[in-house]
Amino acid sequence: MHTITLDGVEVEFPKPGDPTTTVHALADLNLQVRDQEFMCLLGPSGCGKSTALNLIAGFTQPTSGSVTVDGATVRRPGPERGVVFQDATIFPWMTVRENVAFGPKVSKGAGGAELKALVDEYIERVGLGAFGDHLPHELSGGMRQRVGLARVLINDPPILLMDEPFGALDAQTRITMQELLLELWEKDRKTVLFVTHDIDEALILSDRVVVMSARPGRIRHTIDVDLPRPRSHELITDPAYVSLRHELFEELRDESHRADQLEGLVGGKAGH
Ligand SMILES: Nc1ncnc2c1ncn2[C@@H]1O[C@H](COP(=O)(O)OP(=O)(O)OP(=O)(O)O)[C@@H](O)[C@H]1O
Ligand SMILES: [Mg+2]
Repeated sequence: MHTITLDGVEVEFPKPGDPTTTVHALADLNLQVRDQEFMCLLGPSGCGKSTALNLIAGFTQPTSGSVTVDGATVRRPGPERGVVFQDATIFPWMTVRENVAFGPKVSKGAGGAELKALVDEYIERVGLGAFGDHLPHELSGGMRQRVGLARVLINDPPILLMDEPFGALDAQTRITMQELLLELWEKDRKTVLFVTHDIDEALILSDRVVVMSARPGRIRHTIDVDLPRPRSHELITDPAYVSLRHELFEELRDESHRADQLEGLVGGKAGH
C-alpha cells in the first residue's frame, strides 16, 4: 500500500526581498492520494501546486500540519518517491544509456550485464530503443523528457511525483507523452500525483482531479473521473468527458481570475 496524506498543511515563505512579510502559499490543505491512484492537482499559476509536491518529495517542510507517505512523516527525499520535473534532469555529458543507468549504479551499486539489460529494457519502454548512444543535445525536448522518465522509472519507485512534466512540450508531443505515460501506468500501477494546469491533461490521465484555489492554496473541488480505461485521446468527444471538462473549466476560470487579481493583473492599475 502506497498512500500520500496531507493533513492541515500550511506553508508560509518569507517574501523574497522583504523578509519581514510572508507569502501564504498553502492554507489548511487536506489531501489523500490512494494506493495506485492517479491524481492530478490542477490550479492557476502560483496557487501552490509545486509547493505541495515539493513537500511530498521531501524538498521542503510544512510550516504546520503533517505530510505522510505510507503513514510515516516525510522528512527528506526517499527512493520510494520518484520525482519528474518540467525540465528533464539529465546529465548533458552522458549518453542516454549512461543517464538511465545512473540511478541503479549509484543507489544499488548495480553493474555488468544485468544492469545493461535493465537499462535496455527501460530505454525500450520509453520508445528510445534506437537512441541509447545519443547525447542529450542530439535529442528533441520530447525525447529528453523520455530519458528523464526512464531515469526515474528504472528505480521502480512505487510513488511518482510529476510537476508539469510535459509543460514545455509542443501540443502534439505532449499528447504522445501523455499516452506513453498512460500505457506505462496501465502496466505497472503506481501511486501518482501529477501537477498540471491543463484540463485535458488532467482528465485524460486521472482517476481524480483536485482543483486548488488561488493562493493561499487549498482544495476547492475534487472530481472523480469515472471514464473507462485504457484511455486515449479519442475520449475527448465522449459526452461524459465533455461534461467533466466543462465543470473543470468553470472551476478553473473562477480561480484563475482570483489569482490574476491577487497578482494585480486585472481590476487594478495594470488591468487595462
Ligand atoms: N521558496 C520560496 N520562497 C518564497 N516564495 C515562494 C517560494 N516557493 C514558492 N513561493 C511562492 O508561493 C506561491 C506558490 O508557488 P508554487 O510554485 O507552489 O505555485 P504553482 O501553483 O506551482 O505555480 P505554477 O503553476 O506557476 O508553477 C507563489 O506565490 C510563489 O511565489
Ligand atoms: Mg509550479
